[in-house]
Amino acid sequence: MIPYGRQSINEEDIVAVINALKSEWLTTGPLVEQFEEKISSIVGAGSVSVSSGTAALHCAYAAIGIEPGDEVITPPITFIATQATAAIMGAKIVFADVEADTANINPDCVESLITSKTKAIVAVDYAGHPAELLALRKIADKYGIYLIEDAAHSIGSKFRGRLVGSIADLTTFSFFPTKNITTGEGGAVSSNNPELLDKAKKFARHGLIRDKNRMKNPNEGPWHQEVHAFGLNYRLPDILCALGLSQISRITTFKAQRNRIFDNYSEAFKDNLQIQLPTKRDYVDPMWHLFPIQVKREIRSELFSKLRSLNINVQVNYMPAYFHPIFADLGYKKGLCPTAENFYNCEISLPLFSDFTESDQEKVITEIKNILQSL
Ligand SMILES: Cc1ncc(COP(=O)(O)O)c(C=O)c1O
Repeated sequence: MIPYGRQSINEEDIVAVINALKSEWLTTGPLVEQFEEKISSIVGAGSVSVSSGTAALHCAYAAIGIEPGDEVITPPITFIATQATAAIMGAKIVFADVEADTANINPDCVESLITSKTKAIVAVDYAGHPAELLALRKIADKYGIYLIEDAAHSIGSKFRGRLVGSIADLTTFSFFPTKNITTGEGGAVSSNNPELLDKAKKFARHGLIRDKNRMKNPNEGPWHQEVHAFGLNYRLPDILCALGLSQISRITTFKAQRNRIFDNYSEAFKDNLQIQLPTKRDYVDPMWHLFPIQVKREIRSELFSKLRSLNINVQVNYMPAYFHPIFADLGYKKGLCPTAENFYNCEISLPLFSDFTESDQEKVITEIKNILQSL
């Protein structure tokens, strides 16, 4: 079976994890800080490691103080975690339509959705291609609201020469196995605003305060630690940070491998009128996570099924989030974001991962061409 995405694990990764298992620490030890420093250098902002991309989003929303009744503007073409983590805090999810080519949130659709209750605009860097961060930044600044970037797909990408992670108020990452680097389960929150980063970090670590200078009851005793705001346990353990450190040391190689596979597909299908290839704006430097093609909606399902029957495990990323029954129960209706719905009806994600061999990619390309000729 050829998966649509998969981890790349080598001997060094395995040795790193074994060494962590043999060390004094299983959970919060020295590798956590080392991994966080490494992430910070890759994303150009202070970073906190957490147990998943979902946890990272929850921490980011906690850091900006989402409260019941707040509104959060998100694109529908994303994994449900982008919305679920805000909704679970009582936020109302407002959907802004996407750009037809990148499937990223369309800045032109955002401003008219802003109300006095809007707390944040959330951009998702779909497939690894950064969203229009500067246009969104401008809107966020104009209305005094936050810009959050769900960069689950895009660690290692750049927007106008700037690192993803250094532009939004808070940026979140996922290290799930299909992502650009992995820790099994894992994620991170990054920010150049120390106050927001501190809040995210506290939320991920039970809200515990250990610094005497910040305590309300510093004379309680030498054992004392205290909580000023509730938090959860979203720590990423040393064992997984060991894997993360080993993985992140190969991020440049992963980027080159992923982007070469992207280029091979683009070259192979460039003259194929049945396929619309993913767009790359000339001012972005993506680390590609997905290769999303679009075909006519009438043939999408058949192409998908035929590829699956050949053990080519393509995916559809994503059904608009408000198609999930939970949103229907909340009163959201189909037709809300027509461009996103059209994108969903036409999209298929082709296999893309660092260890994807040229011969397997050739096979996928040939099968797609054959099937399309028959449809
Ligand atoms: C865009 C997006 N946001 C958030 C997440 C959640 O990340 P995780 O699976 O690490 O919780 C994912 C992962 O699938 C994702 O693709």
